[in-house]
Parts: sequence; structure tokens; C-alpha cells
Amino acid sequence: MKTIEHDLVILGGGPAGYVAAIRAAQLGMNAACIDENPKFGGTCLRVGCIPSKALLESSHHYQDAKSGLEKHGVVVGQVQLDLATMMNRKDQIVHTLTSGIDLLFKKNKVTAYRGLGKLQDFDTVTVDGADEPTLLRAKHIIIATGSRPATMRGVEEDGDRIGNSTAALKYDSVPNEMVVIGGGYIGLELGSVWSRLGAKVIVLEALDRILPGLDIELGQLAHRAFTKQGIEFRTGAWVEGATMEGERCVVRCKGMEPIVCDRVLLAAGRLPNSRDIGLESLGIETDKRGFIPVDSNFQTAVKNIYAIGDVIGGAMLAHKGMDEGIVCAERLNGIHSHINYDAIPAIVYTHPEIATVGKTEEQLKEAGIEYRKGVSAYGANGRARTLGDIEGRVKILADTKTDRVLGVHIIGGRAGDLIAEAAVAMEFGASSEDIARCCHAHPTLAETIHEAALAVDGRAIHSA
Ligand code: NAI
Repeated sequence: MKTIEHDLVILGGGPAGYVAAIRAAQLGMNAACIDENPKFGGTCLRVGCIPSKALLESSHHYQDAKSGLEKHGVVVGQVQLDLATMMNRKDQIVHTLTSGIDLLFKKNKVTAYRGLGKLQDFDTVTVDGADEPTLLRAKHIIIATGSRPATMRGVEEDGDRIGNSTAALKYDSVPNEMVVIGGGYIGLELGSVWSRLGAKVIVLEALDRILPGLDIELGQLAHRAFTKQGIEFRTGAWVEGATMEGERCVVRCKGMEPIVCDRVLLAAGRLPNSRDIGLESLGIETDKRGFIPVDSNFQTAVKNIYAIGDVIGGAMLAHKGMDEGIVCAERLNGIHSHINYDAIPAIVYTHPEIATVGKTEEQLKEAGIEYRKGVSAYGANGRARTLGDIEGRVKILADTKTDRVLGVHIIGGRAGDLIAEAAVAMEFGASSEDIARCCHAHPTLAETIHEAALAVDGRAIHSA
């Protein structure tokens, strides 16, 4: 077997892994990145964030063309759906971005290996791929193997009619009826896509509310908005199974009538990819759910072996993994960079978008932290009116004693872009007063944040 030496070998070429590889190479390391897929980019670029956002955008245009443009005085003739073109556009975007990683690796002199990477020793990894099996020796190893959709007992996935998010990104026709198991991020984003394209979508959520981790008030507003769009929600619906019966799918929930539909999307969370990568042989134990425990330097139980991204748990978000990749690579090179887990934004790319950073009201109450709340409405914002995006709300939570911003929660058009200001403010330890004193351009949606910051101190200008 061929043996090759590197300073750093990274298992997994998703957002955490490829970013760590590039940053390490920038700092002068001889870095290598292994991925079992023909394309680098991981779930996010290949079958997650990017293709889903492409379809969300296309389906939004379709829906707008059908019923959203008359109020602008734009009358459209008969609107037709060309699903094949929509899917092709999505595939092209994925192709461009995943190919871009190959270019970035070349530019930064990161060695790419395609194949299954497995830990053999504390300094050795094997790559089993299309080419001759290779043995890599490295001073440092980073595990960035990501996560996969959770399966569910009784849900008989065939990868097509009953499948996970990967299947729902490539249906070849619009389902008449679609059942989504799980009212979380994936269920709502992909449920929205197919609902906009004409499917009757029913979301089954085991808990008593959708988006359970979210600020309760925002979750309720989202529930109302999506219901108005035609998505049906059944909360308290504990799914026990989904099977094919003839040509139809049948979904069974505890204590409810079975639901018959054409497609089932299982979106009930994700699990870490920590099996079959050789952890056991090195004595690296995972927790109950399979996440790899690490210390504040991302070091596992074994010196020189680190783990980052979804496989270590926390928020399973691409940008959290990317930041961990940068920090881990920098710390390996003696740079004491940090990651602030209190200022990691999260976004649901539905319409309205939902974006949040920091603590929710519920979390602050539970922790006994006193806070003041400032709220602003999109309806009172000039730019929101011109965009026709008047259903929206910004909520800023600030510490009663220090006025430091502890959480910002937004529902409304382009909330995902607005949240960046809140994340920067929190990273800099800003108070609501700081935000209120910053000049925000007019007319912009960003003024809703300004207005909410003023409202924390009871001096909002544009609230009736
Ligand atoms: P999730 O954890 O967001 O939601 C899963 C939902 O399924 C939960 O509400 C849960 O209560 C429900 N559930 C579990 N078992 C059930 C059962 N037997 N019957 C009915 N409901 C059940 O997980 P999701 O949506 O699969 O997303 C996975 C991960 O991917 C999340 O951690 C999310 O952060 C990430 N993601 C992020 C996106 C973004 O940033 N825009 C988009 C998509 C995913």
C-alpha cells in the first residue's frame, strides 16, 4: 500500500472539513482532505443547504408569478411549471459550487483524496477509494464526517416515494398529497417547496408545536403564516410508521386515522457519522447519540485527533462547522482564535424567513436572567411596504441591568440577511443602545432592527 505523509489529514470534505483544510494550508500546513463522494462540499453543498435554497427560490418565483404579482400591476398569462428545468438549474448550482471546492483546493495546495477514510492509528488514516488503497500519515487528524438523516422504526424508506431530504430534492413530479414527518427546519423548507409547486402538504410533528427550539412567539407566527399558505399541521402527531400499499403511501400516527398520500418526507432530525471510521480501535468513545466528545480545542480523547462540525453536536449548521474548521486549524498553528456559540445565527429559509441568534425568551426565563424586550413590526417599515412583505416582526432581548443584547429573533422577508447585523452586534457585546445609536439607511428592512432596539427602551418612533 502506498504511504503518503501530511501535516494534517481531514476526514470529510463538507463545510467544516474543507474550510479547515484550506485554512490550515493558508497557514503553511501540508493538508489533505478525504471524502467518499465524487464531489467535495458535504451534505450542505450536494444535498442540503444549497439545492434546497435553489428550489425554495424557484418555487417562490413560481408562486409569485401565479398569484403574487397582480398587486404590483403585473398581469401574467398562464403560468406553467417546468419541473425539469427547475431541477436542472438546482443541479447546475450544486455542480458549480462543488467544482469550486476542487479549484480552491488546487489554489491552496490541499491534496484531495476520494474514498472512504478510516482511522488506523493516532497518526494514520487509510483511504479506500477507486484508486489503489492509500495509507496517509499525519501529525494531526481532524474528523469532520458530518451527519446523516435519522431513520425511524416503521418508516420503510425506499429512497423515492418514502424518503429523506435527499429524495425530496429530486422528485420527478409534484405530488398530489405529501406527508412530512417532522416540523423542523428541513420539513418546513422542503414542505414549502412542494406546497408552492402545488402539493397538498401535511406536516406531522410529535411535539405540541413546530420548530420546537425556536422562540415560542416566532414559532406561533410561523405556524399561522404557513397555515395561511395552505400547509396543514398536525401537532402532537407521533408517527409510528409509513409503508407503501400498492401505489400509495400510508402514514400511521398514534391515535389518529392513517393518512394516504403519494410521497412521504422523513425529516425528524440528523445523526452524526461516527460509525465505521475506526474510533473504537483508538479508544475514542462517542456519547449515547453518537456524537464525539471534544475539549475546547476540539481535541478528542486521543491527542492529535480532533473533531469538528455536525459530528461533535451542538447546532448542526454549516456555518457553525465552518467556523470550527477555521478555529481548529488556527489553534493547530498557535493562533488563539475563538468561537462564540452564543452568537451563531440560525435561519429557516421559508417565506416568511425566520432568523434567530442568541437566547430565546424561554431560555432567559429558565436561566433567571432579567431582560427587556423591544419589538418592531414590518408593517411600520417603508421598505417592507414597498416589497409587499408586511407580515414580519423583529424582537430584541437585552439584559435589564447591562442592556447587552442577549438574543434577536426575526420573522419576515429577508430575515436571514438581517440577522447578520444582530450576530455582529452580539459578537461585539453591543447593547441595544449601541444598535439604536447606529445610523441605519432609509428605506431599508434593517431599520426594523433599529426600531426594535429603540423599542427596548420604550422610544420606538414608528410604532403606533
Ligand atoms: P429538526 O431537529 O429541526 O426537526 C425534526 C422534528 O421532527 C422535530 O420537531 C421533532 O420533534 C420531530 N419528530 C421527531 N420524531 C418524530 C416522530 N416520530 N413523529 C413526528 N415528529 C417527529 O430536524 P430536521 O428538520 O430533520 O433538520 C436536521 C438538522 O439539519 C437540524 O439540526 C437543522 O439545524 C439542520 N438544517 C438546517 C437548515 C438551515 O440552516 N436552514 C435547513 C435544514 C436542516
